[in-house]
Amino acid sequence: MTQIRLFNAPTPPGLPPGIDLRCCDVVDLLTSLDETPALVIADPPWTYNQAPPRLPGDQPMNASEHYDGLPVSVIRDHFALIPKGCPRLALWATWPVFLPEWDLKLKRWGRPITGGAWFKSDPNDEGHYGPGFHWSGCSEPVLIYTKGTAYCDRSSPLRNAWHEAPGKHSRKPVGWMRQWVRRWTKPGDLVLDMYAGLGSVAEVCLLEERRYIGAELDPARHRDALGLLAQVRL
Ligand SMILES: C[S@@+](CC[C@H](N)C(=O)[O-])C[C@H]1O[C@@H](n2cnc3c(N)ncnc32)[C@H](O)[C@@H]1O
Repeated sequence: MTQIRLFNAPTPPGLPPGIDLRCCDVVDLLTSLDETPALVIADPPWTYNQAPPRLPGDQPMNASEHYDGLPVSVIRDHFALIPKGCPRLALWATWPVFLPEWDLKLKRWGRPITGGAWFKSDPNDEGHYGPGFHWSGCSEPVLIYTKGTAYCDRSSPLRNAWHEAPGKHSRKPVGWMRQWVRRWTKPGDLVLDMYAGLGSVAEVCLLEERRYIGAELDPARHRDALGLLAQVRL
C-alpha cells in the first residue's frame, strides 16, 4: 500500500505504509480530502459540563489525564464537512446525545441502523465500573449511520456490545472496532478517524490492512499514539 498525502499537515516519519496519523485540526483534514472514505469513525471530545452530573463517590476528573471538550455546535459543524458521498459513519456517542438540544443534524444519514455500547467495566474497581453496573458515564453508546448501498460483509459475527476496562485517555477497544472495519470496509479501503486520540483506529487499520487517515489536535497525545502504533505486532 502506498502512503496517502491528502492535505498539508506533514505525515510523521516512520509510520507504516497506508497509515497517516497527523497532528492537526480535523477541519484541516476534512476540507482537503481528495478521496471519499469508505468509513468515518468519530469519537468526539464531548464537553463534560454538558454531561449529566457524575455519581456520588466518583473521583474528580484529573485534568492532566484529559483533553479539552468541544461544544456540540462545533462538533456538529465538523460532521457537516464529512464528504457527501461517504457511505458510513460510526459515532461514539455519550448519553445526553439523545436529547433534542443535542441535535447533531445527522438527518442526511437517516436513522442509525445499529448501535451497541461499550460497557466500561473494570473488575478491579468494584465500586465504580464493576460488573453489572450500568449508568451514564460508565458505558458509551455507538451509533452506526449508513447512506445508500454501503458495503456490508455479514460473514463474521458482530457483537452488539463490548465489555472492557477504560484505557488511558479514553482509548477505545481495538477488538470491537476491528469487527466494524471487517464488516463495513474491504481491505485497502480508506478509513477516516476524525478525533484520533491515542490511535486505536490507526491500530485497527494496520491490523486489518485498511488505509487510514486521522487527525489528532493535541501534540502530546499524537506523540503517544505514534509510540503505541510503533509497538503493534502484525
Ligand atoms: C474521545 S478522544 C478520542 C479517543 C480515541 N478514539 C482513542 O481511541 O484513543 C477525542 C480526541 O479528540 C481530540 N480533539 C479535540 N479537538 C480536536 C480537533 N479539532 N481536531 C482533531 N482532534 C481533536 C482530543 O485531543 C482527543 O484526543
